[in-house]
Amino acid sequence: MRRPMVAGNWKMHGTRAGVAELLEGLNNMPMSSEVEVAVFPSALHVAQVIDGLEGSGIAVGAQNSAIQSEQGALTGEVAPSQLAETGCKLVLVGHSERRQIIGESEEVLQQKFAAAQACGLKPVLCVGETLEEREAGKTLEVVGRQLSSIIEAFGVAAFANAVVAYEPVWAIGTGLTASPQQAQDVHAAIRAQFATKDAEVAANLQLLYGGSVKAANAAELFGMPDIDGGLIGGASLNADEFGAICRAAGN
Ligand code: 13P
Repeated sequence: MRRPMVAGNWKMHGTRAGVAELLEGLNNMPMSSEVEVAVFPSALHVAQVIDGLEGSGIAVGAQNSAIQSEQGALTGEVAPSQLAETGCKLVLVGHSERRQIIGESEEVLQQKFAAAQACGLKPVLCVGETLEEREAGKTLEVVGRQLSSIIEAFGVAAFANAVVAYEPVWAIGTGLTASPQQAQDVHAAIRAQFATKDAEVAANLQLLYGGSVKAANAAELFGMPDIDGGLIGGASLNADEFGAICRAAGN
């Protein structure tokens, strides 16, 4: 049985005071033990959040980590070994904002994925198509290629310790959510792609949906057979809303 997971990607949001307030809300949030909950604060706030969530059962991840696992001369980057030592458990790899705005290539993402795993961090690999690609009927081709890049480099076995998040670019921060069926169709195709290589890895892989998830649409999305939870942006900045999404994943 796959455990449902809800992860909050705080993106480039937060001040020390704002984060402290959010932590208070998260610590008071009624939790279901069935749901794995994680938050991804900015690198600046990772340590504050790890300290503030101690004993809460909520895992903390980083939004990005370096291409090499160990610390060294790489100005501005944070090594996955540093994140692990601080208490991070997970790291996002390949978020569309980093693919598109920062220009991270498949080669860079392969390095980041491997470096994170080498330090015991679980990568959450984000994949998804643009509106143009969807309208051209290329959704499965694009998502399949993004996954193949990592699968071909490290084998499907690497996904025994990874999570995949399907985040259609056109649904991120736009208020436009993929319909439950649109999301399910892509999730089923992703799982099938893994199943051609390893049925067990495919069956156990947690597949999250991301893109304008809120309390009002979460239950319907999470009710689909291949959607195991969500990667939440904007709605994760409000503890009440995020809590309601987490509870939707447990029902
Ligand atoms: P929104 O929930 O704000 O659309 O963001 C989704 C996302 O990019 C999570 O990584």
